[in-house]
Amino acid sequence: MLAKINGLELSLTTYGRPTNLPLIFIHGFPFSSAMWDGQVQAFKNDFYVVTYDHRGHGRSEVGDGQYMLEFFVDDLAGVLDYLSLSKVILCGLSMGGYIALRTIERNPERILGLVLADTRSEPDSNEAKIKRVNSINKIKKDGIRPFTEEFLAAVFAPENMSTPLSAVDKIRLIINQNPVSGVCGTLIALASRTDTTQSLSRIAVPTLILVGEKDGITPVSAAESMRQRIAGSTLSIIPGAAHLSNMENPIIFNTHLSLFLN
Ligand code: MLT
Repeated sequence: MLAKINGLELSLTTYGRPTNLPLIFIHGFPFSSAMWDGQVQAFKNDFYVVTYDHRGHGRSEVGDGQYMLEFFVDDLAGVLDYLSLSKVILCGLSMGGYIALRTIERNPERILGLVLADTRSEPDSNEAKIKRVNSINKIKKDGIRPFTEEFLAAVFAPENMSTPLSAVDKIRLIINQNPVSGVCGTLIALASRTDTTQSLSRIAVPTLILVGEKDGITPVSAAESMRQRIAGSTLSIIPGAAHLSNMENPIIFNTHLSLFLN
């Protein structure tokens, strides 16, 4: 369905019975809610599963393309309000994790449990910010496709790049369909996001941290650092996966998620 949230039509989908515990999947950059298809199928019978597309991604409206990470946090709160969900479990991957971490910092009373996949609490380093600038310049000059190919090579483990009918083809299609202003606006939002590290010690809900063993963007060391700061959290490393661990090894990802949720 399309829902008017914070002035934009955002695309959101619900699965399963509304009386079940709400489980919200938050996608990464620059993907869409379709990256969670393998988890929706696995969890929709036991949870009230919600997926949505961020502004400027998937089927959601792009607006003016001037974004801060806080706007994505406002959008998540808007999705929860729209569906009248007062308390939820969040599962965010990468940028989805940045949004989840800022949401629990801002509105801890709304969160029952947290799944942080292939993400980190620290903001961009100077080097990472400059890389974002270079990406924006490149996309504006050459279009999205060359960026997509570089990005695919960065997020997938090399051995997962050539599998027939792979997750890679799906993600390529998703990225290439996203509007340039949405992708560039999100790069600015990512580069300017706040640091949530100091608030990790205040997280008081069950937390599962997942990371692909070969994740080069948000590596195991970043996941381990969150585990040390979040009391009682669990870290599981997903074998054979890089940054898109839920798509590269869905069986193991779903197994850990299922054990945690149950
Ligand atoms: C993502 O997957 O959301 C991005 O790789 C996050 C980032 O670039 O920091």
